[in-house]
Amino acid sequence: METISKLPIALAVLFFVQAFLFSAVAGRRASGAISVYWGQNGNEGTLNETCATGRFRYVNIAFIVNFGSFQTPELNLAGHCNPATGSCRILSDQIRACQRRGVKVLISLGGGVGNYSLTSRQDARNLSNYLWKNFLGGRSASRPLGDAVLDGVDLDIELGSSLYYTDLVRFLKSHRRTRHVYVSGAPQCPFPDRLLGAALNTTLFDFVWIQFYNNPPCQYTPNNTANLINSWTVWTSSVRARKIFLGLPAAPQAAGSGFIPADVLTTEILPVIRKSRRYGGVMLWSKFWDDQSGYSTAIVSSV
Ligand SMILES: *[C@@H]1O[C@H](CO)[C@@H](O)[C@H](O)[C@H]1NC(C)=O
Ligand SMILES: *[C@@H]1O[C@H](CO)[C@@H](O)[C@H](O)[C@H]1NC(C)=O
Ligand SMILES: *[C@@H]1O[C@H](CO)[C@@H](O)[C@H](O)[C@H]1NC(C)=O
Ligand SMILES: *[C@@H]1O[C@H](CO)[C@@H](O)[C@H](O)[C@H]1NC(C)=O
Ligand SMILES: *[C@@H]1O[C@H](CO)[C@@H](O)[C@H](O)[C@H]1NC(C)=O
Repeated sequence: METISKLPIALAVLFFVQAFLFSAVAGRRASGAISVYWGQNGNEGTLNETCATGRFRYVNIAFIVNFGSFQTPELNLAGHCNPATGSCRILSDQIRACQRRGVKVLISLGGGVGNYSLTSRQDARNLSNYLWKNFLGGRSASRPLGDAVLDGVDLDIELGSSLYYTDLVRFLKSHRRTRHVYVSGAPQCPFPDRLLGAALNTTLFDFVWIQFYNNPPCQYTPNNTANLINSWTVWTSSVRARKIFLGLPAAPQAAGSGFIPADVLTTEILPVIRKSRRYGGVMLWSKFWDDQSGYSTAIVSSV
């Protein structure tokens, strides 16, 4: 009698276990996206080729290396083209081709080399106006990438002052009624980020791709996934961005430290971090290094 009365309970348990296993398997199917930086090495394929791989949903054109103090912002795209002579306008057709494929194209401010800082709220407004007129939905005779309208602006702020990025993000987002302006950021993994921390607290960011490299206390080190996962948990429970991405070097030489072998990423890290509802996928530095390593090809079906 006892065993019979327990049967429905056992069946119910079995049902829930199966439902759970099914959702776990379904959840393992790639739901994230890969974001990549393009622009800092002439020998990394064209923008068109980058988008045509079908592996990247976001491409950050890197970088605007000088800005602030009301100066005319300066774009540097290494060997790809020369903004000063107007030769980067050839990218307009490629940007539109990327967008037709569903790839969002952002212009990235900052990087590890350059001279940039915002000096006042007015300076932030001046930069925002410049970006709107020259890369987004506005008009200007000087548009460095021609008339293609980019999807948004990425902040990879690694130098200079932390001030007024909150204002910059608010000004950029103030164009929302005209057109959605995506705003993303690339903080370093120590939380909170020294330079972008205040701006990230605006909750206005669409995407935050955290650099889990060159920062041993919060990144992967051989056979230690705990530091990275703990740091991911702090970020995803503190920063209210639409989606948060795990930013990684695409090859061991792409950063001083923090490279994660593809099999470790797909078996030990992604299955854990993707449980966060803010999980958006993986960011890679950079297209050049990815070409050398084949990293995105190795991970794309698991992201
Ligand atoms: C980019 O690719 C698109 C097709 O996706 C093609 O129409 C266009 O001509 C290409 N542009 C360049 C500059 O390669
Ligand atoms: C950096 O930019 C500031 C503001 O435009 C300028 O005063 C300074 O001379 C620049 N420094 C270098 C090393 O170019
Ligand atoms: C930014 O400020 C400079 C210096 O005052 C000015 O020449 C320029 O037109 C301003 N740019 C925009 C887009 O407002
Ligand atoms: C942003 O908010 C977090 C709490 O989520 C806080 O720990 C951090 O200090 C804040 N950062 C800045 C720069 O205000
Ligand atoms: C990591 O683990 C592998 C396999 O267990 C081992 O061969 C390797 O020596 C370990 N590396 C470090 C740095 O502990």
